[in-house]
Amino acid sequence: MQPKKQHVLLLIWLFLCSSTAVDLELVAGVTIILSSNIFFYFRELPTPFRLNSPGLQTDLDNKMFGQHIASSIIFKAVNGFMSNTNSNKPLVLSLHGWTGTGKNVMSRLIAESIYTNGMKSRFVHLFTATLHFPHRHMIDTYKSQLQQWVRGNVTNCELSMFIFDEMDKMHPGLIDSIKPYLDYHDNLDGVSYGKSIFIFLSNAGGDIITNTALEFRKAGKYREEITLKDLEETLSLSVFNNQNGGFFHTGLIDKNLVDFFVPFLPLEYEHVVQCAMAEMRARNLEPNHDVANMVARDMVYSPKPEKLFSSTGCKTVQHKLNFYR
Ligand SMILES: Nc1ncnc2c1ncn2[C@@H]1O[C@H](COP(=O)(O)OP(=O)(O)OP(=O)(O)O)[C@@H](O)[C@H]1O
Ligand SMILES: [Mg+2]
Repeated sequence: MQPKKQHVLLLIWLFLCSSTAVDLELVAGVTIILSSNIFFYFRELPTPFRLNSPGLQTDLDNKMFGQHIASSIIFKAVNGFMSNTNSNKPLVLSLHGWTGTGKNVMSRLIAESIYTNGMKSRFVHLFTATLHFPHRHMIDTYKSQLQQWVRGNVTNCELSMFIFDEMDKMHPGLIDSIKPYLDYHDNLDGVSYGKSIFIFLSNAGGDIITNTALEFRKAGKYREEITLKDLEETLSLSVFNNQNGGFFHTGLIDKNLVDFFVPFLPLEYEHVVQCAMAEMRARNLEPNHDVANMVARDMVYSPKPEKLFSSTGCKTVQHKLNFYR
């Protein structure tokens, strides 16, 4: 129910209560309707859990630049998952790529397409490795805290979303504590995880993705010709074997619990221009191509000697824009 309708109900209720001439049963009836609605007024309704697929597709088309593989996988994966009412395994996505290529933006777009309050929803939980799990010697405590947190929140709402940022900085072994929840089960101790979504973000595999993008370019092929098949296997293997990352020899990969490894390609000059134009629009400024080009020229491009890809993706565009506009 919309807040405006609740305001109207509240006014009717106050009117009925203040009037001595009305039927007590009517007051009681309105009170019951109102109390259930007031309950939802102060908490986010757990009912809008249908994917807004046209919204997600439009957002991917308009707000996600240079990521044809990621956009297509994410749309199909999330759309398919949300339309399956019988899922007995949560959706597990692992997003990989250089810094500033749009991994956090992608998680936000997914959250916004499912929850009314997007990333601010109380059903969306963001963990950052260096912030939430900083100390190696506390790994056992973190493991049980993480299990309790996930179990508690999924008990509260089946369609919860958990985002684990900086997976490459997470202590190896920690993430295995939630492995049972990511597997195929009708329920575990009475809790069903089949409607939840887990998203892992990491820079691991970024170099492999960049090398593939470079090879395509050198072979005279278009960026858009790169497919998931060109990357998926090498990506999962390199992440699995990276001794310093949170996926090192993890059962999540070993047991094929990650549904999709999603590569984020390194961004090129034209994408930085698109980011700068989008940022101007977001600030209600007249989008100016000359300014966007100045911002894009100011970025550092690598690897040498080709210098095709922005080393920080679009990450510093916001701040650079302040200098040039
Ligand atoms: N592909 C993209 N399309 C549109 N905007 C982007 C894209 N990539 C980055 N941006 C812009 O750059 C900013 C940083 O991107 P984001 O935080 O998603 O990067 P990231 O891949 O999560 O980087 P990191 O690995 O450093 O965490 C975003 O706020 C957004 O404005
Ligand atoms: Mg990020």
